[in-house]
Amino acid sequence: MKVAIYQNKPVFGKVEDNINDLSKAVANHAFDILVLPEFFATGYQFLNTEEAVSLADGAGEGITFERMKRLAKDKEAIIIYGFPEKDGQKIYNSALAVLPGGEFHRYRKTHLFDTEKNIFSPGDTGFFTFEFDKVKIGMMICFDWRFPEAARKLSLMGTQIICHPSNLVMPHCPDAMITRALENNVFTVTANRVGDENRTGRPLHFIGNSRIIAPNGKILAKLGETETGYISVEINPADADNKSITPGNDIFHDRRPELY
Ligand code: ACM
Repeated sequence: MKVAIYQNKPVFGKVEDNINDLSKAVANHAFDILVLPEFFATGYQFLNTEEAVSLADGAGEGITFERMKRLAKDKEAIIIYGFPEKDGQKIYNSALAVLPGGEFHRYRKTHLFDTEKNIFSPGDTGFFTFEFDKVKIGMMICFDWRFPEAARKLSLMGTQIICHPSNLVMPHCPDAMITRALENNVFTVTANRVGDENRTGRPLHFIGNSRIIAPNGKILAKLGETETGYISVEINPADADNKSITPGNDIFHDRRPELY
């Protein structure tokens, strides 16, 4: 199965332009799963809830969903992307996994980062895994990396590939994801963005460094701190199934939750 990432530099609020850039970047590529950054089409730094609402869509609605649905169909692939989600009076930092047939799974970010708390409601979906073509896929968003329970929970549910749309600004995540992969023996796919935003007087620098990491902690593909573009790698999801690391150790069976 081919897993891919598109690392972008969105222009805030230029949703169609940002999506067009993605379409061009992946036009000549084939893949089975494509992971895009958090808020890949809108940009990140919303001034307030009203502005975020103006760029938000209901899950399964709006131009971004329609374009991702078409891409999923054309490529016969799963497209996973981050977007601001409107639901009644609430707004969430969400990720959607759109399947080739147009069905989707939605995850709402559990651990909101810094000023996101002023705008978004904390996610209420919890962590879950879904199966497609016998492959078990889970989602977490950006700052969820800082809570090892997120990746652990997904992995204990049998997730083989953790897809991780991100807008990283702190330096440690790309390396921490090696640990998340290793401690759970799963694939991790972190899709980040690059560039800077300073719409609120609090400048943000996005650190790129998108990575696809194997269950043994090996970095299979990566992008740099400033480049935009596409990377992919062929993986065998079943490599995530065997949690045995020595003849005497299985990292899940050896856990001692009663002592934690
Ligand atoms: C983040 O969670 N976007 C840093």
